[in-house]
Amino acid sequence: MDKQILVVGSLNMDMVIEMDKMPVTGETILGKTLSYIPGGKGANQACAAGKLGGSVRMLGCVGADSFGERQIKNLDSAGVNTESICQRVKEPTGTAVIYVNKEGDNSIVVVAGANGTCDKKYLEQNDKLFQDSEFVVFQMEIPYEAICYGISRAHELGKKVVLNPAPAPQPGEIPDEILSQIDYLTPNETEVIQLGEECGSDMESIKRGAGKLLDKGVGHVLVTLGSQGVLLVDADGERIFPARKVQAVDTTAAGDCFNGALVTRLAEGASLEEAICFANCASSIAVTRKGAQSSIPQKSEVWELMHSDKVVC
Ligand code: ATP
Ligand code: RIB
Repeated sequence: MDKQILVVGSLNMDMVIEMDKMPVTGETILGKTLSYIPGGKGANQACAAGKLGGSVRMLGCVGADSFGERQIKNLDSAGVNTESICQRVKEPTGTAVIYVNKEGDNSIVVVAGANGTCDKKYLEQNDKLFQDSEFVVFQMEIPYEAICYGISRAHELGKKVVLNPAPAPQPGEIPDEILSQIDYLTPNETEVIQLGEECGSDMESIKRGAGKLLDKGVGHVLVTLGSQGVLLVDADGERIFPARKVQAVDTTAAGDCFNGALVTRLAEGASLEEAICFANCASSIAVTRKGAQSSIPQKSEVWELMHSDKVVC
């Protein structure tokens, strides 16, 4: 049987506005469309794991409102066990306003709402889920205290810990002791530079940043490089896993799809290399579709593509 995955994180309703170009400060522009799409880094990663065949449960908080109901319904239909998601009466569901330009690039502003109540106490109340899972996945859209507590608890229980450090934490905001408890850290280029306290943005700075995180005890650093694929840095050295060449229309949740896919394959017993290939392929499909959870492919689509492309991992 596949190992259980627990995703601990945020759930947002994304308000996605398509436009030709992003507004600059003080400018008013006309948008093209406004869509409401379930999102939030935690929910997106759980959704990806569910759609891609993982046995996944989620811990997170929504409001007792229509956005929260829709979010839970969407995760249910993706195969995620949502029984322990908490509906808070006093807080609204988290929201994100997302601008997407005609190149498919985005700018995102998140208002935490109920995500801010995903605290240590709530995680303690759901300790059984930590005990029953083999992989525990975190991102950075819930309170830091809860993230640090959750990572320590999962590590203490001997679980594999995945942290997607997004949005990027400030240097030092994740204590070294917590970094040393992470098995798989999955920053993008900006996040690895920030966490590794580097100032450049070139590949050498990225590698140096990842190396420093490895020195602090992280098991494997997987830097997602957008259309360039993934850089893996671990005790075996540095390896690049190139991305498929596609025409991106919206990169929202590319990283989330990558994380959900990665942990799903690891939980199925795949090697890290195989899991990265699968996750690269899944997220290359996601960027060709609009929205967050709406863009995540089904497991069969990814396997068909891997076979037709003759991808060898
Ligand atoms: P986001 O914050 O938008 O979710 P991210 O910055 O966390 O994204 P990226 O590094 O942009 O994550 O992308 C994650 C993965 O998605 C990449 O490692 C790659 O596998 C895939 N990907 C992203 N952009 C492209 C692209 N243009 N073409 C092919 N694959 C892509
Ligand atoms: O990673 C994409 C997600 O970031 C969006 O769905 C949005 O809700 C923000 O959390």
